[in-house]
Amino acid sequence: MKNSIPNTAKISPSDFVIFGGGGDLSTRKIIPALFWRFVDKQIDDKSNIIICLHKKTKLETLLNLIKPHTFNSIKSDETLQKQWNKFHKLLTLITLDLITGDGINDLTLLLNKNSNKKQICIFYLAISSNLFETTCNLIRKSNLNSLHSRVVVEKPIGFNKVSAIEINENLYKTFKEEQIYRIDHYLGKETVQNLMALRFANTFFENQWDNKNIENVQITVAEEIGVADRISYYNEYGAIRDMVQNHLLQLLCLVAMEPPSYFDANQVRDEKLRILKSLRQLSDDDIQTGQYQGYENEFGKSTNTETFIALKVNIDNWRWAGVPFYLRTGKKLSTRASEIIITFKNKPHNIFSKLKDFDKKTDKPNMLIIRVQPNEGLKLKLTSKEPGPGGMRFFPSELNLSFNETFIERLPDAYERLLMDVARGNQTLFMRLDEVLAAWDFIDPIVDKVQSKPPQLYRSGTMGPEDKILVKNNHEWIDPKE
Ligand code: BG6
Repeated sequence: MKNSIPNTAKISPSDFVIFGGGGDLSTRKIIPALFWRFVDKQIDDKSNIIICLHKKTKLETLLNLIKPHTFNSIKSDETLQKQWNKFHKLLTLITLDLITGDGINDLTLLLNKNSNKKQICIFYLAISSNLFETTCNLIRKSNLNSLHSRVVVEKPIGFNKVSAIEINENLYKTFKEEQIYRIDHYLGKETVQNLMALRFANTFFENQWDNKNIENVQITVAEEIGVADRISYYNEYGAIRDMVQNHLLQLLCLVAMEPPSYFDANQVRDEKLRILKSLRQLSDDDIQTGQYQGYENEFGKSTNTETFIALKVNIDNWRWAGVPFYLRTGKKLSTRASEIIITFKNKPHNIFSKLKDFDKKTDKPNMLIIRVQPNEGLKLKLTSKEPGPGGMRFFPSELNLSFNETFIERLPDAYERLLMDVARGNQTLFMRLDEVLAAWDFIDPIVDKVQSKPPQLYRSGTMGPEDKILVKNNHEWIDPKE
């Protein structure tokens, strides 16, 4: 039987101010997310969405940009079309030059209308981090920051630890830590949150969750797309800063952290921080990088930027000593899939091994596959007996929980959940400053190593260069299956 996604609690009326409102992030993710929360009545018409644009733009033009990322069949679905039309009434466009401050009075007027109602105000900095300082100064000097304001910033926070500190010092001139929401959208993904439910709302797995029972952990975030028009940004950051410093390390933290006493923002983040601080520094042998063929042509000149990276990470604590965590991510790979695979230790002794028709290939360890996207779900790989008489023959079977099939409606995008958490003032799924800095402490030395040798070339549509890390431990990558 399919379940519907439970109703969500309405948020208090809020002003969402999006700086960089005409950009990619805003039109592809933020505004569509707000629309869906409006459709589900979590946002009502007392909320306002103020879209700050660099150039004067007509609402119609902006809506045409947003529409394809919101829903495709807009014309065929009358109810959605009606909601879409109602949603427009929440939107106000203003032209604002963040450098000169031209247009700030329009924003001030709009926000002051609601200031006596103590309306929550969310400033979303959907802009490059080199504009954070001027934007925050503008907010402060125009007295737009109040007890009810929050600010949202995107990863990557900085380019390394030093620049992350600088960015935060600038944020702190205007906002307090409790007002700052550092988004890592992977934390808003349904299956990622389900990982916490799996571990801490059940006893079954948690009892097996350590070095006595687990052989290795693999985290793969594979993308089919290349870097396209983001190449100037990407070439500076590479896969290590763009994906590993944030998304992959956050996934690793959720797999490895100790149970917090309560599901409370600071307790969850304290536990993640402990993991980040327990990561052993990597040696050259633990790092493999790749670049897809044709990347240099796209960039226009020779470059060593990695579009693929694989790492072997060790966590120096009692629970995980001796368990390798293999992380890999890359662009232009053969598939788009993110998976966390926990391979359990194999049986200490196989009682079936002396049977006449015993097939060694069926002597496989159990595996838990957490499919983050697409086709979100969980699979537990088991060995079962083939049905029927004629001895004990085995076949690989699986317990399969597919969220797509279990829930009738579409799974909400990560930004929907995260934006509502900002409005509710819940920082659990956002990164605290000390976490960001601890992640850079681990990443900065890896960047130096990555840059010291050229990446191996790999063909687009493969899973990256041939493995050189796992093989040394008699392990192998398990590629995502459809
Ligand atoms: C972003 C990275 O944070 O995440 C992109 O900057 C990447 O390079 C994207 O493509 C992947 O996100 P998702 O949700 O599509 O897996």
